[in-house]
Amino acid sequence: MSLNVVIMGPPGAGKGTQAERFAREHGIPNVSTGDILREAVTAGTALGRQVKALMDRGELVGDDLIIGIAKDRLVRPDALRGFVLDGFPRTVVQAKALDEMLTKRGPVIVVEIQVPDEELVRRVRGRRICSKCGRTVSAFAGDGAAIETCTHCGGELIARSDDSEAVVRDRLKGYWRETQPMITFYHQRPTYRAVDGAQPPERVRDALGAAVASALGKPASELSQSVAAKRESKA
Ligand code: AP5
Repeated sequence: MSLNVVIMGPPGAGKGTQAERFAREHGIPNVSTGDILREAVTAGTALGRQVKALMDRGELVGDDLIIGIAKDRLVRPDALRGFVLDGFPRTVVQAKALDEMLTKRGPVIVVEIQVPDEELVRRVRGRRICSKCGRTVSAFAGDGAAIETCTHCGGELIARSDDSEAVVRDRLKGYWRETQPMITFYHQRPTYRAVDGAQPPERVRDALGAAVASALGKPASELSQSVAAKRESKA
């Protein structure tokens, strides 16, 4: 059975941080619709030119467009064993389209990362992307001191064009208006779980692993054993 996981939550909840790690640990692709769109904008493709202004304002791109992108990505061979979706679906229309895409591909496990709004604004204002290695990092060290260059490779750190405080607050309003109904849509499913995202990333990772295991009806230790086995087989 394929491992189909959707990680959802408001801007800055840590979806990207957790999705990247979970996907790597389970040997499945991390499909981030935000990253796909940002790459198109950077490359200056027709898609990028179409969505740039909307993204800069923090608005959602149209359902048809994003559903087409997700559909194309999820039929690629590497996604047939499973995937982590970060940023899709975001509306009830998209969630229903995902159900159709996954017919005969097993259930979808939906994990919502919950974080209070003020913490989200603080995180997003401090988010930086390394221009060299692409990692997402915080602009502030644990003691609050500003970080000028990437702590992993020394590359220049840049802010996302939609991470200003005003745009983040608009994105949050949009999230509660447009995405909350989708949470209601998933809420009653036996494979829906919520985790507390207002804790250190390592704790969120453990909570996410436990949530996925419980949705699969497995003990958390079983999922972590399969992660350890995958790590060893790669070593
Ligand atoms: P997208 O890229 O999906 O943005 P988002 O949902 O707003 O989420 P973010 O990337 O802002 O946050 P995140 O939850 O991934 O947090 P992160 O891990 O980076 O979408 C961007 C745009 O694309 C949308 O506005 C829309 O225009 C368009 N789009 C994309 N998908 C679409 C769709 N399906 N439909 C329509 N339009 C779509 O973490 C944030 C910061 O916090 C980082 O600095 C990180 O280091 C830090 N951090 C992470 N975890 C923790 C923790 N536990 N404690 C402290 N700090 C933490």
